[in-house]
Amino acid sequence: MIIRKMFFLLFTCHSLYATPIAEQFKESGYVEIADEENDETRFNALYSYFDELIEFLQTNPRWEQKLYIAKERFIRSKDRSCYSTDFFGLYDESKRIGRSQISFYYSTHFHEFILARYPEFTQAPKILHFFEGCRKIQKPYGEVCNRAASELGIEEIFSSISQPPILLKVVKYLPSYTAIRPHYDGTAFSLFLHSTDSDSLLLSPYKPSFSVDDFSSPIRTCSQSENQKSILLIPGTFLSEFSIFPTPHIVLDSGQIRYATIAFAMRANYTQQQIELSPLPSFKD
Ligand SMILES: [Fe+2]
Repeated sequence: MIIRKMFFLLFTCHSLYATPIAEQFKESGYVEIADEENDETRFNALYSYFDELIEFLQTNPRWEQKLYIAKERFIRSKDRSCYSTDFFGLYDESKRIGRSQISFYYSTHFHEFILARYPEFTQAPKILHFFEGCRKIQKPYGEVCNRAASELGIEEIFSSISQPPILLKVVKYLPSYTAIRPHYDGTAFSLFLHSTDSDSLLLSPYKPSFSVDDFSSPIRTCSQSENQKSILLIPGTFLSEFSIFPTPHIVLDSGQIRYATIAFAMRANYTQQQIELSPLPSFKD
């Protein structure tokens, strides 16, 4: 019932214009969807759990190591094939000049794998609280991606599994983070679920060539309350075989701490074909 509500809202955002998703991707690079499932309070709670997790792992390297070993085992398990990526767990780039960010890549399969194989994680509530926060938040978005694939006539990208494989990324940008160049995501779809500074995300619809001026902050039109933000759906590089080209994007630096949550819809047992995409401009020239 909850998921039906989200679909209904998806159409109330866009049905006035009756623009198919494929057209919206071509015209603006994204589709905006009202999100009544997760509000500001839930995302802010997730960022609090994330801060606690970061502090716990930075002060307990033994647990960071345990998490890393679990990730290494997971990417050798059969469940890894659902996601066709090795990105799972913590990426602490807080000391890497320019990068200055800390990310966590969560998936329900990785979560279940840890609970089943590593009972000692029950002694690390900071890890489990964060995992539970991620599990709650990512729940509705598989169906959103199913619906988008169906509207685009490419249902087969998710047909081999019961739900689209969602990889949830929670990221904390530090004040010294520097934005240099936009990028494309190696995903079927990416959903920008939430950020503490939405205006710093710039994107452009796909073009044969790009300049810095092509990139702008998406205009939000969904009617939202202060506590309820809309989400943005963009195509990644995994749809180019259907002539759906990826939306390049960049998060500008602001000198402030910024948190964001993104859901990546992956493709099971997928190998990206060699594709030549338009080069992306530097923002630091
Ligand atoms: Fe991205």
